[in-house]
Amino acid sequence: TKVPGSGKKFSHMLPGQHVYHGILFFGFSPPDTLEAVREFGVRGEDVFIVTYPKAGTTWMQEIVWLLLNDADFAGAAASPVYMRSPFLEFKDDVLKEVGLDIAEAMPSPRVIKTHLPLKLMPKQLFEKKPKVIVLFRNPKDVCCSYYNFYRSSSSFGDFQGEWPQFLDMFMEGHVDHGSWFDFTKSWWPLNGSDNFRFVFYEDLKMNLLEEVKKLALFLGKTDLSPEMLTKISDHCSFESMKTNPMTNHEDVYSIDSSVSPLLRKGTVGDWKNHFTVQQNEDFDREYKEKMSECSSPIPFKY
Ligand code: A3P
Repeated sequence: TKVPGSGKKFSHMLPGQHVYHGILFFGFSPPDTLEAVREFGVRGEDVFIVTYPKAGTTWMQEIVWLLLNDADFAGAAASPVYMRSPFLEFKDDVLKEVGLDIAEAMPSPRVIKTHLPLKLMPKQLFEKKPKVIVLFRNPKDVCCSYYNFYRSSSSFGDFQGEWPQFLDMFMEGHVDHGSWFDFTKSWWPLNGSDNFRFVFYEDLKMNLLEEVKKLALFLGKTDLSPEMLTKISDHCSFESMKTNPMTNHEDVYSIDSSVSPLLRKGTVGDWKNHFTVQQNEDFDREYKEKMSECSSPIPFKY
């Protein structure tokens, strides 16, 4: 299928997709919203959480919100994480929920979630110098998590495909928010820049408390006691977030948790339960090709 106006060929088309600046999106990130994101008023006190979908965004949102709000557990229990930490390019006409509006009305410091590649970010990003946390996860696990999310969410044109089809779509960048490869290549060169911090999902899994401490330092929250940091880390364990109605998204109408919940497995290496030997070899070969122009190798842990 030739996508009109994009000059790009995709092998699978699902209802509700559109292509913006060569990147595939669904209806919850419409073109006018993506346009408005470019003009979004950034504040110096903002913290952006930048991820490709399924990298552990919700996890990082909850950690950072608690750090910035001095471990306000009562506040965290009073509203869902997606209301405390708006999704920049999100618009839901049914709920009348618009990420940009929520963010604009919010006092500082704001924790703003986005899945956008660098070229679609607000123009003021480098002028206002907010803090930016880029969270990466190994792409094979991202792909598996995304496949399960596509099955459970009604936001993706009621995808009914099987794993091999989704894997093709992922490799082609024919999924919501486009190519993982392009997203990753757009952000990785900023690793080491002032105000930027790159974090890996696998490191959060390995030693959450240690990563929470490092994030507290990055955010300038040196006044939080070791006990509070431990409490934040415990609150953000998989088991705790999975049963917490303010983080598990079980109230979100577009997600059918009985098919696959947002907090599904929360492990490193689930890709081994999805990929065949051949698919894994093909993935490794394509990864090498697609990432060859990357500024430096990215140390993913599998
Ligand atoms: P799985 O599908 O592999 O379980 P996002 O928030 O970007 O949509 O990412 C969702 C993924 O992050 C899911 O991965 C989910 O289980 C995982 N996740 C969310 N909170 C987590 C936590 N506290 N600990 C470990 N993984 C978590």
